[in-house]
Amino acid sequence: MVSGSSEGNVKNLQTSRIESESFSLKINFSKNKKTDSSKLHQYDIKKYINPDNFNFPTDMQELIPTDTPPYYDKGENYVERIVRALGYFKQCALIGPSGTGKTHIIYLVAELTQLPLWEINCGLQTSAYDLFGRYIGLGKENWIDGIITSWCRYGGILYLDEANMMKQDVATKLNPILDARGHMVLNEKDNELIDRHKDAYMIISMNPFSAEFTGTKPLNAAFRRRMSVWLNFDYMSVDNHIDEKEINLLMERAEIPRETAANIVEVAAKLRQEYKNGDLPYGPSVGDLANWARIIADGASPIDSANETLVAMTSDDFEVQEDVRKIIKSVDWGITQTSDDPKVLIIAAIEKSLLEIGKPDLNKVKQRLMEDYNRTLADCYEEPEFLSRILKDIYGKAHVTIVDAIKKNLDNMSASIPVKEFLDLIAR
Ligand SMILES: Nc1ncnc2c1ncn2[C@@H]1O[C@H](COP(=O)(O)OP(=O)(O)OP(=O)(O)O)[C@@H](O)[C@H]1O
Ligand SMILES: [Mg+2]
Repeated sequence: MVSGSSEGNVKNLQTSRIESESFSLKINFSKNKKTDSSKLHQYDIKKYINPDNFNFPTDMQELIPTDTPPYYDKGENYVERIVRALGYFKQCALIGPSGTGKTHIIYLVAELTQLPLWEINCGLQTSAYDLFGRYIGLGKENWIDGIITSWCRYGGILYLDEANMMKQDVATKLNPILDARGHMVLNEKDNELIDRHKDAYMIISMNPFSAEFTGTKPLNAAFRRRMSVWLNFDYMSVDNHIDEKEINLLMERAEIPRETAANIVEVAAKLRQEYKNGDLPYGPSVGDLANWARIIADGASPIDSANETLVAMTSDDFEVQEDVRKIIKSVDWGITQTSDDPKVLIIAAIEKSLLEIGKPDLNKVKQRLMEDYNRTLADCYEEPEFLSRILKDIYGKAHVTIVDAIKKNLDNMSASIPVKEFLDLIAR
C-alpha cells in the first residue's frame, strides 16, 4: 500500500510508505510541486478542481505532466469545460479526428489540476495483466496492481485513448466503477472490492472517422451511457476556414515568415477536408505542420520538405501521395522564403524579379555587379547604390518597373522597416 502524509513543520518534506506482507519500505523525500502558477492563472478551473487539495505520493507525482505547451482554441474554453465535467461528473469523453489535440489537452488538464495521468491506448493489445494486475512469482503472495487498479485505488486521471477499440472484458470491468456503485471487483484477486478513490477521474477519447476507415465498432453502449459530457474537437483550420491562431502558432513554433505559415495552413485545411470526405487516409495535425515548417525554415523548398514529412506521412500509396502533392502545389508559394531575415527576402525578391524578365537579364546584372564593382547580389543589401546604378545603366528609366516588380514580390511578406528603406534606396 502506498500512503503519503505531510510531517510536522518540516516544509516540503513528505513520507511515503510502501508495505506488503513480505516487506515494508519507508521513504522520505522532499516534495517539489511543479505547478506553474502563471499557467494556472490563465484558466478558471479552481472552482471545479483545486490542485491545492491534492497531496499524492512521489511515485505518483512523477505521473503528473510538466511543461505541456499551451493549447490554442477558438474561444471554446476546452480546458475549463473538461475540468468542469470532471469536477461535476468525474468523467467525460472527447471526440475528434486525429491530430486535433485531444491527447495534448488531456496532458495540459492533468498538469493544471496536478493530477497523475494513467494513460492507456485501447487500440493496442495491452494485456489484462497490465491493466488490472497479477501475482508475480509462485503462489499468491505478491500481487502487483495494473494501471486501472492503481488508478482506482490511488486516484488521478485515467485516460483511455481510442476508447471505441476497448475490448469488451475491459469495458465490463469498468462499468461498475463509472456508475453509482463506484467500485471495481478484482476477480483475479479473490474478488477484492476496490472503492473508487475520491480523486479518480476518467477521460476517454476517440476518433469519429476511424470507424469508417478501419471498421472498428462504435463505443460500447453501456459505457457510452456513463459519460455525461461529450466534447467535440475539430481542426483549427478546415476547408475554407483559415484560423489566424494556427498561422501564428506555426510562425512561433518553426520561426517562419507569416506568408509561408499561411500557405502551410491553407494546404492543411484542404487536406483535412479531403480526409473528412474520406478521400485521404489522414488529415495533418498542427504538430505535423510544424515539422514541415521546420524543414522549410532550414532552407528546403516547400515541396521537398513536404515530401519528407507530410506526403510520406499521409500514405505509402503513390497515387494518394500525388493527390497530396497536387494540393500543395495548388497554393502560390511565391518566392521560396527560407527566413524572415529582410536580407534573404530582398535578395530572393530581386532574383525573382530579374528572372521574370529572363535568365540572361539576371546573369547580366550579376556579371556587371562583379565586373564594375566587385560585388555580388547579396552584397547589395548593405550597399544598394551599386545595384541602383547598374539597373539604371542597363534599363534606363525602365529601372523603376524592376523596382516595382521587386516590391510586388515582397508584397506578401511583412513590409518591415528595413525592406521599405531598401526599396526607397534602390528606387532613387
Ligand atoms: N489546438 C492546439 N493547440 C496546440 N497544439 C495543438 C492543437 N491541436 C493539435 N496540436 C498539436 O498537434 C499534434 C497532435 O495533437 P494530439 O496528438 O494531441 O492529437 P490527438 O487528437 O490526440 O490525435 P489522435 O486522435 O491521432 O490521437 C501535437 O503536437 C499537438 O501539440
Ligand atoms: Mg491522441
